[in-house]
Amino acid sequence: MERVVSGIRPTGNLHLGNYFGAVRNFVRMQHEYDCFFFIADYHSLTTHPTPENLRRSVRQALSEYLACGIDPDKCTIYAQSDLPETAELYLLLNMNAYVGELERCTSFKEKIRKHPDNVNAGLLTYPTLMAADILIHKAVKVPVGKDQEQHLEMSRTFANRFNRLYNCTTFPEPHAFNFGSGLVKVPGLDGSGKMGKSEGEGNAIFLADSPEVIRKKVMRAVTDSGPVNPGQEMPEPVANLFSLMRLVSTSDTVEFFESKYQDCSIRYGDLKKQLAEDMVAFIAPINEEIHRIASDDALISKVMDQGAEKAHASANKTISEVRNVIGFRTK
Ligand code: TYM
Repeated sequence: MERVVSGIRPTGNLHLGNYFGAVRNFVRMQHEYDCFFFIADYHSLTTHPTPENLRRSVRQALSEYLACGIDPDKCTIYAQSDLPETAELYLLLNMNAYVGELERCTSFKEKIRKHPDNVNAGLLTYPTLMAADILIHKAVKVPVGKDQEQHLEMSRTFANRFNRLYNCTTFPEPHAFNFGSGLVKVPGLDGSGKMGKSEGEGNAIFLADSPEVIRKKVMRAVTDSGPVNPGQEMPEPVANLFSLMRLVSTSDTVEFFESKYQDCSIRYGDLKKQLAEDMVAFIAPINEEIHRIASDDALISKVMDQGAEKAHASANKTISEVRNVIGFRTK
């Protein structure tokens, strides 16, 4: 069965971008593929969380994964730091990753622009750690949002380079995946760009948000003063609200507001109210599950232990093969 790997950094709660870009596919893929999903806690160290924060956010991330419908008996779900084989492969891949190509990575350039006081080596080598996450299980499909496309391209480069260097076929080529269509970019509520946890208060709707918080955030979303000419093109902030609506509302609702926009009779207040209620209805059952699971200590540790064990079995095989190919002693 084809192998699938994907992960999410535990830096804040899951938002609708994470859900529609990645987790929705995890839930579906677990029934069709051999899936490994993890909480990317090594990756999150680039922002230097305190131990308490890290512990809390890993736990929260696991609760949210499970609340979305990821079933630990159907797939392998684990914490990245429970799989030190990943760190070993990361070290080995770093030997053949060039500083120039890492520096050209868009996400690195963005990070150093936003945080010039924290340009650490972990940020620079973020794509090699990601490649290690994927290649340690020899995954070929990686369900991710559009923002991860370049990282996947780099993973392919590192995999092919390793195979070429050692004249082997150890690593298959991993590809970004979204069921039958292009990769998703869920917009935020601030009028531009994507929904993200670091894009500022109010931009993201989290699965753990209460109905009141969701309503408040949606009602404050950026719009414009409204269309004046029939058929006029939508400005980006308004188009973003329609994109969000397409994810959580029925097609009838979307069509209704689209036609209102087209004939200039739309009232953004009504659009936002409807969008907020549809988001609340969509999130409510997940939100309830998050609270139930997050308070179940026994379940959380059982799932973590079970995941670590299954992930080891897979990673051990790859790392032994890699050590042998490189010329190290194998146990
Ligand atoms: P992270 O934690 O930023 O995001 C997790 C997943 O959510 C997707 N995503 C979005 N998709 C659509 N629209 C959005 N607005 C949006 N925001 C986030 C991301 O594309 C991602 O799929 N580097 C990764 C974590 C990672 C990983 C890996 C992923 C580490 N190792 C190996 C796959 C394979 C990251 O920071 O994702």
